[in-house]
Amino acid sequence: MLVNAARIAADFRAIAAFTQTPGNGRSCPTFSPEWGQACGYVRDQLAACGCQTRIDAAGNLHVRPRGLAWDSPAWLSGSHLDSVPNGGDYDGVAGVVVPLEILRAAHDAGRGDLPLELIIFADEEGTTFGTGMLGSLAWVGKMSAADLGRYRNAAGETYLAAGAAHGVCPNDLPHEQINPAHYRGLIEVHIEQGPRMWNRGERVAVVTAIAGRRQWRLRLTGQANHAGSTPMTERRDCVAGGAEIVVALEKLAGELSSAAVITVGQFQPSPGAVNVIAGAVELSIDFRDPDNGLLAVGETKIAELISQIATHRGLTAELTPSEALPAVALDGAICQRLQAAAATAGIPNIPTTISGALHDAAIVAPHLPTAMLFVASRDGISHNPAEYSRIEDFALAAEILAALVQELVTLTE
Ligand code: HGY
Ligand code: MN
Ligand code: MN
Repeated sequence: MLVNAARIAADFRAIAAFTQTPGNGRSCPTFSPEWGQACGYVRDQLAACGCQTRIDAAGNLHVRPRGLAWDSPAWLSGSHLDSVPNGGDYDGVAGVVVPLEILRAAHDAGRGDLPLELIIFADEEGTTFGTGMLGSLAWVGKMSAADLGRYRNAAGETYLAAGAAHGVCPNDLPHEQINPAHYRGLIEVHIEQGPRMWNRGERVAVVTAIAGRRQWRLRLTGQANHAGSTPMTERRDCVAGGAEIVVALEKLAGELSSAAVITVGQFQPSPGAVNVIAGAVELSIDFRDPDNGLLAVGETKIAELISQIATHRGLTAELTPSEALPAVALDGAICQRLQAAAATAGIPNIPTTISGALHDAAIVAPHLPTAMLFVASRDGISHNPAEYSRIEDFALAAEILAALVQELVTLTE
């Protein structure tokens, strides 16, 4: 089977065009018209190659060659097409385009029964409905229809309502969950979104583990007051309190471990007037570490730090957990198969790495043997319109995955 790099490049260009912010990165919220167009592009490409598609009740899109029955054990590969606001052209898209190209190359080679299913997971980023991986969580039975009905997008639509036009069907959710008997394993191809591989000249790497993540909403309440007539010693200023917490969290991450990261991505003061001391502030906290023990330690320290600063400043703090996902070790045997497939594709001993970013693979891993294959990101930039990876590296990833799917690999004991 011949992988075609020009087709891969054309896919990225085509999918990048489905954005709400042309000229300023990919903004492709789940179930938006742009998301529907991006999924439609993939579906059309594969319909032209004699593939069959189905959408499960959570809104995830599945594609198999027509010669491969839905219930026969196949390799699963895919990722997401939704994006963060003003994101890059490769995050998620890479993991859809690589299996897309393999299915096209199989069709060209007359392999109408290649044991590969492509999946597009709905809503990975969490920036549309407020928490991530809703499509894969629902597919593996960790998110019920009632749960999905509690998440709303900016327009106030629930996941169920917004997804109805895209195949989401709450009544069918319990009957359309993952059936491990239909799969050999999952391999998600993704860009690294960090600088390590690029700086070391590594084109591809096998991911052996994915960091765990804790997310919270924090609401600080103090006292709105006059900016001009309130002495500095009489203030209960939530912006100043929030800022002290942000800097303290940044310092805590470095103290916890070399891999721990803590990010405050949202910080909304109210009333948000120039001449009013903020009486309240809402902020998000995102904490990650590849070690579950450290996640637990960090969780406690974060709560303590917030309480100390808020008390010292006369503020009240409401810390509400919005997500708690464990660190996940990926499947050693599948990682070994990827290494062997890379050797078949001409590059033995590809490096291994751990993912700081979260992926749908982490949600599926407890249910299917799962591994990931990373492609280097230029300077590690991601979640940014400047995100870039080399087309030839995606073509290499496609050759590796194709070798694995065709069982061309020889496993060394
Ligand atoms: O946040 C993440 O790790 C991923 O980009 N959803
Ligand atoms: Mn991603
Ligand atoms: Mn992302």
